[in-house]
Amino acid sequence: MKDLLRQRVAVQDSIIKKLNNQVKLEAQASAAYLAMAAWCDQNAYDHSAKFFYEQSSEEREHMMKLFHYISDMGGIAVSPAVAGSQSEFSSLKEVFETALENEINVTESINQIVSDCRKNNDFATENFMQWFVKEQVEEEFVIRRILDYFEMLGEDPKSLLMIDERVGGVSYGE
Ligand SMILES: [Fe+2]
Ligand SMILES: [Fe+2]
Repeated sequence: MKDLLRQRVAVQDSIIKKLNNQVKLEAQASAAYLAMAAWCDQNAYDHSAKFFYEQSSEEREHMMKLFHYISDMGGIAVSPAVAGSQSEFSSLKEVFETALENEINVTESINQIVSDCRKNNDFATENFMQWFVKEQVEEEFVIRRILDYFEMLGEDPKSLLMIDERVGGVSYGE
């Protein structure tokens, strides 16, 4: 019993390490979306710019959610170093394709953490991570739907304006 009380970290080291890696991925996503927002702004895709500014804020919230969980469990949350983000794109479609690619990588990382939690009987962290599992389903849905518009409407200037206008209106489960 004494040993248990002395153990100050409620989640094992290997999981804390993976959660800190996820903190970094969310921070990178936040930075990547900010760069995408700037590109959209520069190219007069106002709705897409707004979309990516909001995504950037959401990714920071995801990061903080993980950060606080690590701390609350007695682990050391590491403020991540974020490398430069891609700021040049050849088209609006490429911006959304890059965003989807990033989200798929994030989803894979989250699934891996859930899988590790199961292997280690860490049900608390698994439960905590379920929120992220659901969030990824929504985020991937929205970006895939926007990419559908490029297929349906094409990429001439008028179509691009129409697509941009629809960007803010896509929502999951409605
Ligand atoms: Fe996220
Ligand atoms: Fe995301």
